[in-house]
Order: sequence, then structure tokens, then C-alpha cells
Amino acid sequence: MPVDLNTSVPHSARIYDFLLGGKDNFEADRQAAAAIVESSPSLPISMRANRQYMARVAHYLAAERGIRQFLDIGTGLPTSPNLHEVVQAVDPQSRIVYVDNDPIVLVHARALLTSLPAGSTAYLDADLQDVETILTSSEVKQSLDFSRPVSISLIAVLQFIIDEDEAHRIIDGLLAPFPAGSTLAISTVTAHNPQAVAAAASYRARGIAAKERTDDEVRALFRDTELVDPGVVLVNRWRPAEEIDDSHVQMSGGVGVKR
Ligand SMILES: C[S@@+](CC[C@H](N)C(=O)[O-])C[C@H]1O[C@@H](n2cnc3c(N)ncnc32)[C@H](O)[C@@H]1O
Repeated sequence: MPVDLNTSVPHSARIYDFLLGGKDNFEADRQAAAAIVESSPSLPISMRANRQYMARVAHYLAAERGIRQFLDIGTGLPTSPNLHEVVQAVDPQSRIVYVDNDPIVLVHARALLTSLPAGSTAYLDADLQDVETILTSSEVKQSLDFSRPVSISLIAVLQFIIDEDEAHRIIDGLLAPFPAGSTLAISTVTAHNPQAVAAAASYRARGIAAKERTDDEVRALFRDTELVDPGVVLVNRWRPAEEIDDSHVQMSGGVGVKR
């Protein structure tokens, strides 16, 4: 079936791709990105810091927590290293389900689906808010063993869910079927950096719902999980700290373990 990319309207995945130096974006995305960066010049540095955070978290979960199953929602366009590359370097048998609702990510899904033969990667075209659809999908049911711990990652996507009750419903629903020891990894736009607040406002001005969160609000997203050290911090400060000035970093996050 042909995919309707609606390229005349800016889209968060393609703005992000452009700011990371990717090629999968269109004029409307580039114009939006330029305007957003004007009010938030450190955004490209912040996005790279976020991507490095994703890779460190994935490595930690695989290498130090022994997680072998990953449900990554709001995956984005392929950008090296992708999550499956990080965790399959630890154990080639790792199984990954990627979920996104952007048609251009769907177009690139095949590039994402390059699992090592011992493991698996699957791609599901679904909305984060359709928790039931995600959990009952054949991609999830065939890839993940519900009796063993799963990593659920929501990296740089929850800023697009602007209602806290809705964010909590999504997180509760996603964690519900998985056993204790499953993990929740989050990063989202912080309210503690004026440039991040400006960037969220700039997204809203372009018709993309987005919000910033205080550290307390981010901590509240961890719900029925226990935060691992160092808790909720700017993403560059999540083990190990990176040599990036805090003033450039617009995302905070952390990892929780289901009790
Ligand atoms: C800023 S990118 C983050 C990509 C990747 N997680 C990372 O951190 O590098 C956000 C991604 O979330 C996706 N997204 C936004 N809202 C979504 C929703 N309601 N359901 C599923 N995916 C969504 C976008 O299409 C985009 O690919």
C-alpha cells in the first residue's frame, strides 16, 4: 500500500532526523527545524546527547541487568548505533520490537530490521496511545516472552504526550503484563532548561503538541518502578557523565525496575 508521507507538514521524526544530520526529511521539516533551533540553538547537541544516552541505557540493561527483550516505542529513523545493534553486541540472541507511528519511519523499517540471525527485530506501525494494540500485536506476541523481563523504552517521545494522566495510563498499561525485573527507560524534555522550554513552545507553534516536564514530573512517570542510580538526571549525567555542558542538554531521564 502506498504510504502518505504528507511532506508539506513538519513531522517530529523528520525534524529530529534533520537535526541529527540525517537525510530523511523534507523542506517543511527543515524550515521548522531552522526556526526551532533559532530559539533553542543547543538543540542539535542535546539530541546527540539523548541518542548517546539511549545507547548507554541499552548497553546497561543488556550487560548489567541481563535483559534480552526490548520494546522500544517512538524509535525514530535509523541512526547509528540503533538499539538492536547495542544489545545484540552484548547478546546476539536479543529480541527487539520497534514501534513508531510515523509513515517515513515505516518506509525505513526494513533498514531497522537487520537483526543478527540468532536474535530478532520486528517493526510495528502503531501509536503509543494504543497500548492494547501494541501488546496484542503479532509482532509483540511472537517476539517477546511475557514470562520474562522486558525493557520498555520511551526515549524522547513522552514530550509529545501532553496530558500527565494519559502518560501515566500509557506507562501503567505497557508495564502491566510484564514480570517484576522488567525495566522502564525514559527521556523527555526538561522544564529546567530555558532553551528546552523554548523548543517545546516552538514545536507547539508549528502544530506539534509538545511539553516540558520538571524532574518531579519525570520521576512521577516511573510509577510502580524503582529508579536505579543516579535517578532522574539530565541525560548527559546518566552513567557515565559525558563531557557536555549541562546548559546544552534539554532532556532528562532515567531507568526504573518494576517491583
Ligand atoms: C524525537 S524522536 C526520538 C527517536 C528515538 N527514540 C531517539 O531518542 O533517538 C520521536 C519519535 O517518536 C515518534 N512518535 C511521536 N509520537 C508518537 C506516538 N504517539 N506513537 C508512536 N510514536 C510516536 C516520532 O514519529 C519519532 O520517530
